[in-house]
Amino acid sequence: MLKPEEIDEIVSRMSLEEKAKLVVGVGMPGFFGNPQSRVPGAAGETHPVERLGIPSAVFADGPAGVRINPRREGDERTYHATAFPVETMLASTWNRDVLEAVGRAMGEEVREYGVDILLAPAMNIHRNPLCGRNFEYYSEDPLLTGEMAAAFVKGVQSQGVGACLKHFVANNQETNRMFIDTVVSERALREIYLRGFEIAVKKSKPWAVMSAYNKLNGEYCSQSRWLLTEVLRREWGFEGFVMTDWFAGDDPVEQMKAGNDMIMPGKTYQVKPERKDEVEEIVNAVKEGRLSEEVLDRNVKNILRVLSDSPSFKRYRYSNKPDLESHAKVAYEAGAEGVVLLKNDGVLPLNRDMRIALFGTGQIETVKGGTGSGDTHPRYVVSILEGMRERNLRVDEELAETYTKYVSEMRKRDEYRVRRGIFGEPLTPRLPQDFLSEGELERFAEKNDVAVVVLSRVSGEGYDRRPEKGDFYLSDDEKALVEKVSRVFHRFGRKVVAVLNIGGPVEVASWRDLVDGILLVWQAGQETGRIVADVLVGDINPSGKLPTTFPVDYSDVPSWSFPGEPKDSPQRVVYEEGIYVGYRYYDTFGVEPAYEFGFGLSYTSFEYRNLKIEKLDHAVRVCFEIANTGDLPGKEVAQVYVRAPKGKLDKPFQELKGFHKTRLLNPGETEEVEVEVDLRSLASFDGEMWVVEKGEYEVRVGASSRDIRLTGRFTVEEELRYNP
Ligand code: GLC
Repeated sequence: MLKPEEIDEIVSRMSLEEKAKLVVGVGMPGFFGNPQSRVPGAAGETHPVERLGIPSAVFADGPAGVRINPRREGDERTYHATAFPVETMLASTWNRDVLEAVGRAMGEEVREYGVDILLAPAMNIHRNPLCGRNFEYYSEDPLLTGEMAAAFVKGVQSQGVGACLKHFVANNQETNRMFIDTVVSERALREIYLRGFEIAVKKSKPWAVMSAYNKLNGEYCSQSRWLLTEVLRREWGFEGFVMTDWFAGDDPVEQMKAGNDMIMPGKTYQVKPERKDEVEEIVNAVKEGRLSEEVLDRNVKNILRVLSDSPSFKRYRYSNKPDLESHAKVAYEAGAEGVVLLKNDGVLPLNRDMRIALFGTGQIETVKGGTGSGDTHPRYVVSILEGMRERNLRVDEELAETYTKYVSEMRKRDEYRVRRGIFGEPLTPRLPQDFLSEGELERFAEKNDVAVVVLSRVSGEGYDRRPEKGDFYLSDDEKALVEKVSRVFHRFGRKVVAVLNIGGPVEVASWRDLVDGILLVWQAGQETGRIVADVLVGDINPSGKLPTTFPVDYSDVPSWSFPGEPKDSPQRVVYEEGIYVGYRYYDTFGVEPAYEFGFGLSYTSFEYRNLKIEKLDHAVRVCFEIANTGDLPGKEVAQVYVRAPKGKLDKPFQELKGFHKTRLLNPGETEEVEVEVDLRSLASFDGEMWVVEKGEYEVRVGASSRDIRLTGRFTVEEELRYNP
């Protein structure tokens, strides 16, 4: 990294034009007539200043893997990158080591493909289950979000490249995302929407932050001095640089002043004809005294300080040969730890020689992840059917062939032809799932021992999901399939397992009693099929826990203002629920979820013992033991919730204040767990200060937010107050 005086010296030699070019990208590479990036498919590139030996830098998406073009004109080599599990599945591991390992692997691919900054992690809060990009985000809880992001950033940046926290802040929907005015109280902002970013900035020092598209209380995030200078830098001590989201905001001069150091991708006029060239606007603003050159210099220095550490600035000779083999194993291990067992009435794990009738077109059209900038281009995707065959599970081949033919025939029909939309609703129609007759089902029930029904969903950038059949709810034909398979297979004394290949919650309460097991395999990337096969037969003991609530019905969801008003074309969305997001709402207002935050079963069982609570000067040390009391090796996610005393401020019933994932415990083995809860983390924001009110606090150690195993207490003698 260049020393401050070296950076000052470089900037002192830069012309105004060169400075303005350094804070504006070259334009979206490969689009609108712009030249392709030197790393084709990369999302953005900075201007070089050859005269001063400043090279350009390359930025590429995304949260589930490096998104660059897998092929190049006239080049017989391929440039695939590993498709890791989506972030919601990574968060389901609750395992910092897994996130760091994924970050390291992805960071190596970033570096070896010639990219300098990975535009990830995406870490907006799951305010509403229908946000189209929730698969790209971790959780409804800020602590889990921040801890996962921090671990991932450490992993990425350990490889000598940068990570970029996004989208800063409160970008919790896709509807009208570039212009929507998000109205949030400062308390909800700080305790829920900013908190994860604060944890990640302080714990992992990311090279960059991407300001969000939306307005925040009337002002574009990318133009909010309070957000980007006051909170991010002065309060949190962020030392990297801030870039806009692509084509965000409406005033480059305001973006400069606010502390948004870089405008990406540049040439906004290519998508917003009313705009002028940002470089010219910035040069003219300085010349006309509307923008002080000191501010421009500050932003240039922030950029140079970070990029001087990048591979491009170091002229790193990248190989274009990242270690995809070993990263495939990292993707597999991460997915294996992210599978959530939601239901198991004596059906799982299957006996390896059981004959399996596999239903659902998702066995073939397995969804590896979401669409948009969070998409990936891996060398392969192992479908659920392929994974089960590869693991030599006894899949009913007649039924598999029936499904293979059905999918291929239907996709030939224009009505069901695959239509790829990049940044918008995938236009590919869903295939009807209920096409087998009762008689056929009886035949398959007779010749098999168990039924597995795959239900898939895909969502993505540029549009939100809908509270309708075929999206949040099962479609009529999906429901009919589940009902028929359940009825017929149960009549033959066979059990039924549902496999959810989804990126976010769906309604389950109305049909879960029809099946004996439910495996939530999320969208596990390129290794999905292998992971599903191995979990089904117990080669993986599921240890994932829900990072986001599965509500009984969409009408239970507290963010009722989503996606804003007026309904036909939302311009403004008011976060009326305040801090009561996810379990903070359901637990406080007594609304029963279908599956609660932190829920997940195992093929073994765990006991929690010997809780000890020790009050330290600035923290509380929570110690307890976890024992594997079942007959299979397994890992457990222990969660530490705290319930605050009634005081001046209203508070949620409880809040997650710590968690720990055990190592693999063999039957009979015990692990001693120690979780330290910083007293400041118990504080609520009262409008001016962070306040920990005095009184008795309850520590609630649980296997989920509603399965509390141990409780204890500690007292805060005097009220504690902290500056923001
Ligand atoms: C997109 C996304 C952002 C992505 C960027 C570059 O619009 O909002 O997440 O990193 O543009 O593709």
